[in-house]
Amino acid sequence: MAIQWFPGHMHLTRQAITERVKEIDVVIEVLDARLPGSSANPLLQEMTGHKPRLKILNKQDMADPVQTKAWMDWYNAQSETRAIALDASEPAPTKRLIEQCKLLAPSRGGLAKPMRVLICGVPNVGKSTLINSMSGKTQAKTGNEAGVTKLEQRIVLADDFYLWDTPGMLWPRIIVEKSGYNLAASGAVGRNAYDEDLVALELLLYLQKHYAPMLEARYKLGISAEEIAALHDDELLTMIGKKRGAVMSGGRVNLQKAAELVLTDFRDVSIGRITLETPAEFEAWLAEGQQKDAERQARKDAQTKARRSARRRQP
Ligand code: G4P
Repeated sequence: MAIQWFPGHMHLTRQAITERVKEIDVVIEVLDARLPGSSANPLLQEMTGHKPRLKILNKQDMADPVQTKAWMDWYNAQSETRAIALDASEPAPTKRLIEQCKLLAPSRGGLAKPMRVLICGVPNVGKSTLINSMSGKTQAKTGNEAGVTKLEQRIVLADDFYLWDTPGMLWPRIIVEKSGYNLAASGAVGRNAYDEDLVALELLLYLQKHYAPMLEARYKLGISAEEIAALHDDELLTMIGKKRGAVMSGGRVNLQKAAELVLTDFRDVSIGRITLETPAEFEAWLAEGQQKDAERQARKDAQTKARRSARRRQP
């Protein structure tokens, strides 16, 4: 699924981050704990180079705790990287954040050398909620909407701890196909950028494989978890639609409505606490996406070369 969602203000955000990062000690990346790999912005890695980084697996209350632990271990095994899991009910997020940043940049601190931190995240990961809870007041949203021009704001969390907030930013081309689906399922991508049927079917496919008992508990389809796992995803969506009354005149299931129901249930945690990717799965998807992308680029280069030599041959 090609998700194209990189409006002009995201280009400006990219420029603002590239400038700001020069004087930053730690980069905090807020991730969605339900899709840590897919909600990590590959551009950020490019823009922030080797700066120490703190990964916040946010919305942990919605994610599968076993997988959140697996992702934390995975990140914590990487150099200059630490990870913590958080959600909006955390009573003192600032304390934990400051502690972690000090571990990542121990030479910073005190009025002479205040800690300078950049906080980034794709839209909808809960970054504003976290910042509001840390700053103890409602900050203006830095702007996920086109037309919002304020690109960054500095928030003083302690006398020697400054946080620069940037608007939520996606990246121009999502090379990992599954990431597009997972971002859409999570609500990070505007609704008109994707087809709900396809996103719901991909979601169901994953849930069948990893969370079939939860599907049965939610939709009471009257079949075993093994039988749910063996269904074709289309069949499963139809069964759910029927069960939940998404039926058109004539008795046909309204698949669009059924897809909306499934997506809403996932986003409301009505199916349960679910994570849509493991570190190993994401690594495999990424390798596949990178290979396809390299092939695509090679095809494009070959076409350009062929066009150029054809032009040269013309009298
Ligand atoms: P953003 O700045 O990264 O774009 O995200 P924002 O804080 O606006 O949060 C996006 C949605 O996620 C909000 O819900 C917010 O309440 C919810 N949220 C944020 N943090 C958490 C969390 O830790 N756990 C859970 N379960 N939800 C979280 P909304 O429905 O879009 O808005 P509202 O109903 O809160 O107004």
